Amino acid sequence: MRILLVGGGGREHALALGLKADPEVTEIHCAPGNAGIAEIATLHDVDILDNGAVVALAQELDVDLVVIGPEAPLVNGVCDQLRAAGFATFGPSKAAAQLEGSKNFAKEVMHDAGVATAKSFTCENRMEIEKALDYFSPPYVVKDDGLAGGKGVVVTDDRQVALDHALSCKRVVIEEFLDGPEISLFGISDGKTILALEPAQDFKRALDGDQGPNTGGMGAYSPLPWAPSDIVEQTHREVLAPMIAEMAARGTPFIGLLYAGLSLTDHGIRVIEFNARFGDPETQVLIPRLKTPLASLLYKAATRNLEGEKIAWHPLSAVTVVLAAQGYPTDPKKYQLVAKLPTIADTFIFQAGGGRILSATGVGSDLTEARDRAYRAISQIEVEGSFYRTDIAFNASVAEKGN
Ligand SMILES: Nc1ncnc2c1ncn2[C@@H]1O[C@H](COP(=O)(O)OP(=O)(O)O)[C@@H](O)[C@H]1O
Ligand SMILES: [Mg+2]
Repeated sequence: MRILLVGGGGREHALALGLKADPEVTEIHCAPGNAGIAEIATLHDVDILDNGAVVALAQELDVDLVVIGPEAPLVNGVCDQLRAAGFATFGPSKAAAQLEGSKNFAKEVMHDAGVATAKSFTCENRMEIEKALDYFSPPYVVKDDGLAGGKGVVVTDDRQVALDHALSCKRVVIEEFLDGPEISLFGISDGKTILALEPAQDFKRALDGDQGPNTGGMGAYSPLPWAPSDIVEQTHREVLAPMIAEMAARGTPFIGLLYAGLSLTDHGIRVIEFNARFGDPETQVLIPRLKTPLASLLYKAATRNLEGEKIAWHPLSAVTVVLAAQGYPTDPKKYQLVAKLPTIADTFIFQAGGGRILSATGVGSDLTEARDRAYRAISQIEVEGSFYRTDIAFNASVAEKGN
């Protein structure tokens, strides 16, 4: 199987590694890729927001499967054009990617599918905004309707801050505050059938103890020893399957990875948001644990053939720690990556680019072992001014030991 992977972050580096491990795969191409992916795949310098250029590349390479990593090309409709040109494509259509592209659209679909989420109002003017803020008590949750690169959501006790953010958005979703631990649970869908992956938890704040600004993610771990044992089954039944059925019923089937961001509240599972692609850095802990060959799995999804499939896992834990550039996330400085990265058994280094330089994933028989390996690797990489959190998966590893 010849594959074209689109994207160039840590998530795509992890996906490339997973694809390469599948014996069916003969060639991996990546656009645009990064220095780490270059060791696994042939890179192509193509503008991934130019749909025509992506289709032309797929044609030139004559690939059997195209896998889209980031959200921007999905929302831009690249999958529609790839499918129209006859390519088996893992990624949702422009219409289905609106589950990530519009918070209001996701709310409408959840409502029709009977999927539990925070009660919300979608507002387009000051009067509607004031009324919604009056309805809820603090903390206020104010979400820009559109894609905002992780900067669209404000959670605050300060009504003025909430109001100012809401007024700065063209369309805004104001919703109930959900109190509970947050987890990420992904499903792989062929449009009719969806297979749930194991859950992961990521760390969004820049600094230890969940302090500092929100980021794209500073680390992650999987599995979650503290989560209810039926969490995968329950999320499949209450969230993933009804969403896929509703999208199909609307004539816009969702083919690709459906990312459910969940809050585990005292009243049950509530959806915080959906994304239409693999999460970064959760992918960096899920791929090393995945036993099912990745390329064949994504190909079956792309060709609407997932029925009856099962996903198998290695009985291992994984922890990933992100090394971020000085000033990340507000104003990341340019950095120089040392030529030689450490090679440590059961540890993977995934290169990112941008404000997140790389992440080190440690794999082990439990979270403590996985954590030790990830931190041993990350502490050996010196980039001036760079930093990482020291508490990724710490609480979970302590809880696991106590069990
Ligand atoms: N209803 C809510 N209650 C509590 N926290 C929330 C709620 N909605 C979002 N958040 C917090 O804000 C973060 C970002 O919100 P999210 O909807 O995931 O938007 P995005 O990832 O597009 O920025 C979430 O990860 C969560 O920590
Ligand atoms: Mg989110």
